[in-house]
Amino acid sequence: MAMPALDPGPVELHARNVVFDWSETPLHWIPNEPTASNAISVVNMLFPEAERWFIEAYNEALPFVQDDELAATMRGFIGQEAMHAEAHDHAIAEFLEANGIETKAFLAQMEWLFRKLLGPKKAGSAKAKRKQLVERLWLIAAAEHYTAILGNFALNNTWEEHGADPAMMDILRWHGAEEVEHRCVAHDVAVYFGDGYLRRARAMAVILVGLLAVVFRGAAFIGAQDPHYRGAHALLILPRYMKAAHKGLLPSLRSVLFATITYFKPSFSPVEVGSTAQAVAYLAKSPAARRAGHAPRALED
Ligand SMILES: [Fe+2]
Ligand SMILES: [Fe+2]
Repeated sequence: MAMPALDPGPVELHARNVVFDWSETPLHWIPNEPTASNAISVVNMLFPEAERWFIEAYNEALPFVQDDELAATMRGFIGQEAMHAEAHDHAIAEFLEANGIETKAFLAQMEWLFRKLLGPKKAGSAKAKRKQLVERLWLIAAAEHYTAILGNFALNNTWEEHGADPAMMDILRWHGAEEVEHRCVAHDVAVYFGDGYLRRARAMAVILVGLLAVVFRGAAFIGAQDPHYRGAHALLILPRYMKAAHKGLLPSLRSVLFATITYFKPSFSPVEVGSTAQAVAYLAKSPAARRAGHAPRALED
């Protein structure tokens, strides 16, 4: 996909009320590429709980935000993440379940992870609760670093050349483009609540390990129910992943590692990941976003 030359600068964040038709999407939505198809399909099971967790933390954080512009951006972010969660919920029922993948057990694990393990602190002093909220905001900033990387990858890969399903490409590129569009929000929010190199590094380590574990575990979970994979050892997923990454169908582990290292630079800025111009250009032509009747608007100062 060609990258537009001009960057429009910051854009006003708003949710697009998209709907996808899953009736024609097969489990292997990239033909003859079960590993790449299943590894990416995991995001449908991961994102809804993760994004609702982001929203809960932001609703908790909003009353403490005195900066009107940041608060407005947070509300735009909440609107977009709520729509992402809803769209992937539909994909769980209408794509994964419809293709014979029983998702309940995996979704229960995601619920435990985001509601219990990483959820808001129920007991303790107001100070302790605030401290834990700030830790969550840094975890969200780290998670959003990866959603921006994945979003940028969704806009720049070889899916089309391999005949990928249009509905799946559109949901991933619409979502990916909005992730690139709002890639600075979570970092700005976390910095507003209290920057710290140790906080950044700790959050990044937790999210990187968690993300890799969920993606590989999720791919194995889908694979165990996929007739193509039944009986194959879970350890086979890694070499097959690397082969698909080499074809440009999955983000290479090297690129993920490189992007992780850039986050540890003290001068890191989320703007370094992806292109707003490319994201906005995709959102202007996304079939689902067009059906929703939204065109991106530039922010007026
Ligand atoms: Fe999202
Ligand atoms: Fe996001």
